[in-house]
Amino acid sequence: MNSAASYVPETHKLSELAKAARQCKGCPLYADATQTVFGSGRSSARMMLIGEQPGDREDLAGAPFVGPAGRVLDKALAAAEIDRAELYLTNAVKHFKFTTNERGKRRIHKTPSRTEVEACRPWVLAELDTVAPEVVVLLGATAAKCLLGNDFRLTRHRGEILHATGLLDEEPALVATIHPSAVLRGPSESRQGAFDGLVADLRTAYATTRTVSSAGSAGSGRFMPASRPVRR
Ligand code: URA
Ligand code: SF4
Repeated sequence: MNSAASYVPETHKLSELAKAARQCKGCPLYADATQTVFGSGRSSARMMLIGEQPGDREDLAGAPFVGPAGRVLDKALAAAEIDRAELYLTNAVKHFKFTTNERGKRRIHKTPSRTEVEACRPWVLAELDTVAPEVVVLLGATAAKCLLGNDFRLTRHRGEILHATGLLDEEPALVATIHPSAVLRGPSESRQGAFDGLVADLRTAYATTRTVSSAGSAGSGRFMPASRPVRR
């Protein structure tokens, strides 16, 4: 069975996880990609974002969300008044899956299969366990299904504050939303609406991390402890 599990070291250091992930051969996707694209960002982030998989640009750069989808995400974060530097960003799958066009020049994104998402999930779980965010934004159906199961329907539950994946000891809140690249794909007349929806869902998620003491007000009314108990 494909799985990254045997490659994941028992550590709560992101740098060690990222280093080990470079060697992962937990599924066939490592073979054609340039490199593993591990998550990046603040190790103590209260909010973590999970995308699908690195794209062409991310595969070459070795960092998540640095291409066109990343630019949409950056604009949406700015519109929601969220500082990207405060976050931890990663992907459900850590290697770029693609086909090449007939002339073999352009690499075209291919959606990872369910087995590849499941194979790569141990990395996501290790990142969640290490960063221990209060809330996780699942960008698109692949990320949502990675943590909420294959029956999860994004269209029905996007923007809701969800709990309990059954996969972790300490469950963060989860908010599933559209993938930033969906904003680019849609017909031009629907792009603004799609973008606004993404911004609204990011705001919903971020509001769950606001605390009474640091924000000076109850914010959305959802109270979360001001400081997370030290777990290790
Ligand atoms: N799309 C994703 O899901 N993740 C990236 O890092 C880039 C594009
Ligand atoms: Fe390992 Fe994930 Fe890459 Fe597959 S996609 S080889 S499981 S890191």
